[in-house]
Amino acid sequence: MAPEIQFDKWTNLYASRAKALKPSAIRDLFIVASRPDIISFAGGMPDTRSLSMEMVAKATRKVLLNEGAAALQYSSSEGHPGLREHIVRLMAEDGMSADAENIIVTDGGQQALDFAGKIFIDPQDYIIVEGPSYVGALQAFSSYQAKILTAPLDEDGLQIEPLTQILNDLKKQNKKAKFLYLVPSFHNPAGVTLSLERRKALLELAKEHSLLIIEDNPYSRLRFEGEKVPTLRSMDDTIIYMSTFSKIFAPGVRLGWINAPKPIIEKLNLAKQAANLCSSSFAQRVVEEYFSNYPWRSHLNKQIALYKERRDVMLQSLEEFFPSEAKWTKPMGGLFLWVTLPEFINTSEMLAEAVNEAKVAYISGEAFFADGNGKNCMRLNFSYPGKEQIAEGIKRLGKLIESKIVLYKTFTKKLHLNND
Ligand SMILES: Cc1ncc(COP(=O)(O)O)c(C=O)c1O
Repeated sequence: MAPEIQFDKWTNLYASRAKALKPSAIRDLFIVASRPDIISFAGGMPDTRSLSMEMVAKATRKVLLNEGAAALQYSSSEGHPGLREHIVRLMAEDGMSADAENIIVTDGGQQALDFAGKIFIDPQDYIIVEGPSYVGALQAFSSYQAKILTAPLDEDGLQIEPLTQILNDLKKQNKKAKFLYLVPSFHNPAGVTLSLERRKALLELAKEHSLLIIEDNPYSRLRFEGEKVPTLRSMDDTIIYMSTFSKIFAPGVRLGWINAPKPIIEKLNLAKQAANLCSSSFAQRVVEEYFSNYPWRSHLNKQIALYKERRDVMLQSLEEFFPSEAKWTKPMGGLFLWVTLPEFINTSEMLAEAVNEAKVAYISGEAFFADGNGKNCMRLNFSYPGKEQIAEGIKRLGKLIESKIVLYKTFTKKLHLNND
């Protein structure tokens, strides 16, 4: 039986905030991309299949047997003290000195983004993001009705000149951006990393314009090669820093955190109370146990080696099967790379053909821009599909793109001939 179509008779009741809510291209594709006949480069999923379930089960059992009543109880809004202490240690390993008092645990990095929007953005406030930017951040910030300005990035991350231009333009109009949001390491979706030189320049510029920076850093531990680059937060402790256990452990536990100066943490704490009182005490204790007493580093290293192999296969396959008109980034870590096709190819329009005929899914570039750019781009994920799938999927996608280029060339040649 066909599903019943239900008209939305409540539209006049929705707040303008709800009208600003936009669907995520990724969530929309989730069902299609999960079909077994589809090779999906669409998700942003770490490979939880390679975790040791034995160990996770052991950690879970220990929590339940030793501290079950507390684990199944409400806990403090700022987060379980043991986990916050652990977060402090993780951050210290990356050169960031933080105090547990300045950390709040969130339901994944996504809730951290929502809270940033909640406490900073009034309708029509300006914020600045990278172009492209993480789609979940665009979703969170636009739900608070921000005016989103976009500064482009290239192989070395966010470009400083266009950002300077945006800041100067705002200043001329006597306006200010509430914050700049960026993912400096192994960017989602672009895969690029902000160079050290640009990090320094960015901090200078931010100081000059009293610009608040939000650094979102889920991926820096997933490095395959190259020199470690210091986090912005390790270079400046006024930065709001966010990270998550999703990519270094598992997204299913839904745990992330924010590190910020104390007054901001106090506001975030109120946002947390209003949103969900506290994150799962149970999940927080399991993660604390797992990170304190199990060899999580060697597991993470195995995952990193797996992702590197898959990235290599993707890069080789792109070289072999994509037409010479296509360009792509060469990430040194993380989960994604970014492909730019000739301007005349619209990847959103091509997606139906990719899924239905080539049986390959990706995310169209447009989803990662608030200003309608990125129509000829796509994000490809290499962390989840296996090596054979990657090679086959890229081959099929390459063929489809090639056919578009041939069609375009034939068509424009004909036009030329007709005009001559
Ligand atoms: C840049 C970035 N920030 C935040 C998140 C949210 O992650 P989670 O809510 O799973 O911690 C993601 C997820 O893909 C991401 O790529």
